Amino acid sequence: MAHEENKAFLRRVPLLSSLNEQQLETLAAGSARRNFPKGRTIVAEGEPSQSLYILLSGRAKVQRSDSEGKEVILAVLGSGDFFGEMSLIDEAPRSASVITLESCDFMSINKDAFRSMLMQSNEMCMAVMRGMVRRLREADKKIETLALLDVYGRVARVLLDFSELVNGERIVKNKLPRQEIAKMIGASREMVSRVMKGLEIDGYIVPLPEGRLMLREKISSYIS
Ligand code: CMP
Repeated sequence: MAHEENKAFLRRVPLLSSLNEQQLETLAAGSARRNFPKGRTIVAEGEPSQSLYILLSGRAKVQRSDSEGKEVILAVLGSGDFFGEMSLIDEAPRSASVITLESCDFMSINKDAFRSMLMQSNEMCMAVMRGMVRRLREADKKIETLALLDVYGRVARVLLDFSELVNGERIVKNKLPRQEIAKMIGASREMVSRVMKGLEIDGYIVPLPEGRLMLREKISSYIS
């Protein structure tokens, strides 16, 4: 029963859409569905790897930290994203930690099942590569942001990246704690608070109920 359910979940994952029935069957035998509450570390930087994960619902952050415990957030993952493929491919330790930002549902696929699928399906190889290329593009953009923009520009870029169009307005729907923004842009929480206050006073952002934010179009001037 669990096996059939796993297969049904796997069938809906874009990364696996090219697999045939037989391949899905094999993969389902090496998969498990898991739920984790907010704040749980799913993979830990530096540890050996056993599984690939696909996020079915919820959000998780990809984070690295130094020996003093200072942290940087590399990315925030959402539904349909996969992670844990890097160390399964190159056999090196986990490159970063992945920590849930809210309650999350995952499929975990064991190393052997993932590797054998990559061998069997060119389309799946291409899908994994497309995901990794997208990440590289985002990492390039991040390097550019950190190298070329001042703190206002960095904050503006994060807010724009996390926003979506709702009835013609640019809205940040999920609450974005200042501490998390600070970890994304290499600034202190206090500095991010000052910048956010400045953006609010000057009418670039408008706070909405439940921690949401509306962004005015002129905020784009900070990143151009
Ligand atoms: P792995 O190294 O196995 O474990 C940590 C995972 O975090 C890694 O595989 C990737 O799936 C993911 N990851 C690492 N760096 C980034 C990044 N810059 N953006 C998004 N995801 C990343």
